Amino acid sequence: MVLAPADRAAVLALWRKLGTNVGIYTTEALERTFVAFPSSKTYFLHLNLSPGSAQVAAHGQKVADALSLAVNHLDDLPGTLSYLRELHTHKLRVDPVFFKGPDEGGTPFPKRGGKSGQGFSTPTW
Ligand code: HEM
Repeated sequence: MVLAPADRAAVLALWRKLGTNVGIYTTEALERTFVAFPSSKTYFLHLNLSPGSAQVAAHGQKVADALSLAVNHLDDLPGTLSYLRELHTHKLRVDPVFFKGPDEGGTPFPKRGGKSGQGFSTPTW
């Protein structure tokens, strides 16, 4: 996936604005996901999932760091995030339904590549 220059600039500007708060937002996104899509919790039963959990915050920070890594490598997203694609697809075997975009009735995670509504078997990142 290649971002148009305007989209690239928008992503970089957003990340500058978020500053050191990315982990706060990713943790909130995780907490919202667990409320809106309770079945997603089955992947995290080894964590304390109660509101304000330090374990969820620690996982949120890992997600934040991965997203920041991606933002710093917008020219090579597939290569930069291939370890996460491998992890989620083959090791964790996360159901692809959790990688649909919000407009597809999915979780608040980024939309996967391809046409809306198509079935996908792997995350594109
Ligand atoms: C934008 C989407 C996502 C990103 C950026 C992301 C990122 C990450 C990262 C950075 C890790 C830690 C990897 C490591 O320890 O080396 C991870 C682990 C994990 N992810 Fe994701 N993830 C995403 C979506 C999901 C979804 C939708 C699910 C399931 C519903 C999921 C389930 C898991 C699980 C179960 C782990 C292992 C947790 C653990 O070891 O305690 N992820 N993810």
